[in-house]
Amino acid sequence: MIRLYLNMLPKIFIIGCFCILAIIAKDVSIEEEEYNARNFLILLNRQTEKDSNRLSLANWAYASNLTEENLKNQLAVAAEVAKNEKEAWQRVIQYNWKTFSDPSLKRQFQKYSVLGISALPEEKFKNLNKIVSDMEAIYSKAKICPFGAKTAETEECKLGLEPELTNILATSRNPEELKHVWLEWRNAVGPKCRLLYEQYVNLTNEAARLNNFTDVSEYWLDDYEDPNFKSQIQSLWEQLKPLYLQIHAYVRTKLRGKYGEIVSEKGPIPMHLLGNMWAQSWSNVADFMLPYPDAKDENLTEELKKQNYTATKIFRTAEEFFKSINLSEMPETFWNNSVLEKPSDREIVCHASAWDFFDQKDFRIKQCTEVTGEHFITAHHEMGHIEYFLQYKDQPVKFREGANDGFHEAIGDLIALSVESTKHLRKIGLVHSEKDDPKQVLNNLFKLGLSKITFLPFGYLMDLWRWDVFSGKTKPEDYNCKWWELREKYQGVEPPVDRSEEDFDPAGKYHIIADVPYLRYFISFVIQFQFHRSLCEKAGQYEHNNLEKPLHECDIYQNQAAGNVLKQMLAMGSSKPWPEAMEVVTGQRKMDASGILEYFKPLQTWLEEENRKSNAFIGWEPSKKVCVRTRQELLDAQKDNTTTIPAQA
Ligand SMILES: *[C@@H]1O[C@H](CO)[C@@H](O)[C@H](O)[C@H]1NC(C)=O
Ligand SMILES: *[C@@H]1O[C@H](CO)[C@@H](O)[C@H](O)[C@H]1NC(C)=O
Ligand SMILES: [Zn+2]
Repeated sequence: MIRLYLNMLPKIFIIGCFCILAIIAKDVSIEEEEYNARNFLILLNRQTEKDSNRLSLANWAYASNLTEENLKNQLAVAAEVAKNEKEAWQRVIQYNWKTFSDPSLKRQFQKYSVLGISALPEEKFKNLNKIVSDMEAIYSKAKICPFGAKTAETEECKLGLEPELTNILATSRNPEELKHVWLEWRNAVGPKCRLLYEQYVNLTNEAARLNNFTDVSEYWLDDYEDPNFKSQIQSLWEQLKPLYLQIHAYVRTKLRGKYGEIVSEKGPIPMHLLGNMWAQSWSNVADFMLPYPDAKDENLTEELKKQNYTATKIFRTAEEFFKSINLSEMPETFWNNSVLEKPSDREIVCHASAWDFFDQKDFRIKQCTEVTGEHFITAHHEMGHIEYFLQYKDQPVKFREGANDGFHEAIGDLIALSVESTKHLRKIGLVHSEKDDPKQVLNNLFKLGLSKITFLPFGYLMDLWRWDVFSGKTKPEDYNCKWWELREKYQGVEPPVDRSEEDFDPAGKYHIIADVPYLRYFISFVIQFQFHRSLCEKAGQYEHNNLEKPLHECDIYQNQAAGNVLKQMLAMGSSKPWPEAMEVVTGQRKMDASGILEYFKPLQTWLEEENRKSNAFIGWEPSKKVCVRTRQELLDAQKDNTTTIPAQA
């Protein structure tokens, strides 16, 4: 459900000579320097575009065809580009850009002044890229045996994450099979990545320091242009936590009803039972815990299959929505060049992603699309990225980014909020009932809550873990146990089996090994509701405290007034600090949790009542699962039940 948007740092490749422009006499006036800078920037931007294009093509060639040759080529291009980027950077920092009067010029220089990982010496740069590519290959090629397989070497032992393991997690209700898949996936990826990850941490930290950041966490947070950003996030989470606790308590009660004693009454939830490899979205277990089990449920996956949807038809349907609100259609190159289905003749990175090739023409999605409701929504998510690319394609190359990276993640999702409403699904023939049954509406709200509310603590803790890893506060010998400590503290989930530091479970999640920051998704899940609320107000479909017009029934389909303000924000790219972009759509300059809280208000009220009735425990007591240094310690403890293992988490 949560998909990567590959934020390719544009790289600079200089073919021509900047000799004339680069020579700045000591006594040029400020006006003259700014004039020179503007000319320099024209050439620099041109080269950056060309170069980003070359690099994106090489990255794509590898990600969509994981061969040694393509990897070699990708690494070579990246190294060449980095070298030239460094040269350009040395020229950039000779300008007194902080004194420039033209804000756009100044902002572009400011962006160019952060060099990123290209700051590393050549050998280290190559090494870092190789390490990340190797981890991606381990992750993308990992295969496990099915539950109950007799030997490890049979033909059957080729279950990959997408689609096989994802589907088992989503549909199997056999706790032993779920545990098997959960565990074997982590065994297949974690230990192989552990040493690589330590090297990755050291090298990226070194790069961050060469950019005058204390470590990578500071570098990542720099994107948000706000020194108090961390505390704002913390405070958003505090506001959202009461809602999370309610859905958590309700789900635990229902799981206990289904699975019995393996789910404790007051402890964290065993995460393999939640329908998703990382327990980041729980919507796949909705079927046996709906608020109104008898209210007829129209299943989106079944309906899509019944109507013979294909990958292409799913993406055409998404495109039609964007067009209906006056956003752009996908260019022909999109349809020609994207990979929308998993190929059978080669290994690829199946993790869905959207790509900008920085030539104002070529935009692609790579997704191993399955005809399911989940992929239907993911398709909208990815197309939201492409729509952003299209709207800001005429900005200077350094502004071809989201206002911040949370914005980029929010666009497709906010469209999907309309798409997923029963009202809309009925309009496009994916729901047949003639009008909304209030029980069904609450069921739907609950299902959406199982992916949106449950995601919040996960979206937050991914980088909480990494911030401390990068700062050195969490030492390599504590990586895994610290991970489980955060999983328990924020999500209230636990692993199905005890863990040790010989495991490396964070690596089981794509964004960790692929060097993709994650806070953006938490931000996205908050602000998409803020945007949705404002657009629905604009469309005349939502009024605060008007029960006739609740937020969850709004659908902005075909509403060009709403589409046009969105378009205006997207077209800004990152040319202004993000609060200004946010203001265009919402009139607000701050992230605000009240959007998502208002959206789920009817659900929250219902959950509180239900948890009261069932006398459910709210929150969780400490997990009985442990995390220790070595697997041997776990084995010893099993032999001798009297030994208690000191829990590190
Ligand atoms: C995959 O890459 C190899 C080069 O390593 C190339 O020979 C092959 O044609 C590519 N396959 C596809 C389907 O593009
Ligand atoms: C897309 O593919 C079609 C059919 O192969 C071809 O005729 C067309 O020129 C291509 N368009 C672009 C923009 O690549
Ligand atoms: Zn995304």
